[in-house]
Amino acid sequence: MTALAPTAAAPALAPHADTALAALGGLRINGARLLQRLNELAAIGATPEGACCRLALTDDDRAGRERVIGWMRELGLQVQIDPIGNLFGLRPGTDDLPPVMTGSHIDTVRTGGRYDGCLGVIGGLEVVHTLNDAGIRTRRPLVVAAFTNEEGARFAPDMLGSLVYAGGLPLAEALDRIAIDGARLGDELVRIGQAGSAPLPLYRPHAYVELHIEQGPVLDAEGITIGAVENLQGISWQELTLTGQSNHAGTTPMRLRHDAGYAAAAIGHFLRGLTKEMGGNQVATVGALTLHPNLINVIPARAVMTVDLRNTDETRLQQAEQALNAFLATLAKEEGVTITSRRLARFEPVVFDAGVAALIARQAQALGHSCRPMTSGAGHDAQMLARLCPTAMVFVPSVKGISHNPAEHTAPEHLAAGADVLLRTLVALGA
Ligand code: GLV
Ligand code: MN
Ligand code: MN
Repeated sequence: MTALAPTAAAPALAPHADTALAALGGLRINGARLLQRLNELAAIGATPEGACCRLALTDDDRAGRERVIGWMRELGLQVQIDPIGNLFGLRPGTDDLPPVMTGSHIDTVRTGGRYDGCLGVIGGLEVVHTLNDAGIRTRRPLVVAAFTNEEGARFAPDMLGSLVYAGGLPLAEALDRIAIDGARLGDELVRIGQAGSAPLPLYRPHAYVELHIEQGPVLDAEGITIGAVENLQGISWQELTLTGQSNHAGTTPMRLRHDAGYAAAAIGHFLRGLTKEMGGNQVATVGALTLHPNLINVIPARAVMTVDLRNTDETRLQQAEQALNAFLATLAKEEGVTITSRRLARFEPVVFDAGVAALIARQAQALGHSCRPMTSGAGHDAQMLARLCPTAMVFVPSVKGISHNPAEHTAPEHLAAGADVLLRTLVALGA
């Protein structure tokens, strides 16, 4: 166990934590029930390849949301939906105080696994179920949230629902976002019956804790069960449109080409070299690329591609962006193409609340689980909630660090361990 340094913030956040945790005794969540709900949700939008495809605000996302709302009602939660489609289930506390919130998202990428996001929502429901069965009331209300369009795969930016919730993007602008398939976000929300009327933000939480799979290789490689997430890296997303000239693949001499396809490939190659040169935490991905007219014997006239840059250090992230810009200017001149950029997302790195992270680490320790402090490589709703209240995250291992892939897997005992840590952390914060 690598302990995080306890900070003065912890007692202020959870003044009666020790008493509440003592009252919990050896109470544990029900791992089989947690897995059962995860499997049930994974069956919605399941693809023949074994992936989950519930792109935000599609019919499958609607079906997933309806299942979650059903579970919330069965558990006696007060369900509300806000105008950006964020879904909340409240379990009243003994006192009328700002609630402790947990949750995540249930939208997926096109080739999603069964745990990304869903573990945070269903883990929260499992905590409520466990407390209900044990007849335990927390002093503060508990809220389980499922935020809209965390993935950003269909509508940019990612974490859109929680960003709007935290006041980082005006609602009207968010509703006007256009999907990769041309649909308007606000229209899709109405179409699937998920445009609610709850105020924005519905709650100003006392604290927010999100349980999530790591989606990276660290915990699995080190054989550690719990990550207490202290910070999360910055994210820079843009879409580049490269315009050249289509021409005949057989007759056009190489020196006369204005090849948008070649330029797109050069950008991908440049980015790989840049990450090697910068080292450290710099990562870069070209995740989407389309060529026009996309035919074997035609030099591409146009390429539209995405660039995802991330770094834990804002200055380094800006350096990467500047290096890319300089490269694009040179490339455009050399190949005789024009390159325009559209910003899809830009979030600075986030440092979570040290007191909440330390509280998570202490609960892992109390349960006998190995634990280490972590950085998150993925974006999460927690990074937006951190703008509103003390926030941190609980990570559990992803086998071989695989995620955004149907093979995404976390051992059932690790899923349960994460939910047990969540149970204790929420109870401590809610005391
Ligand atoms: C969300 O999954 C992201 O980090 O891209
Ligand atoms: Mn996620
Ligand atoms: Mn994801």
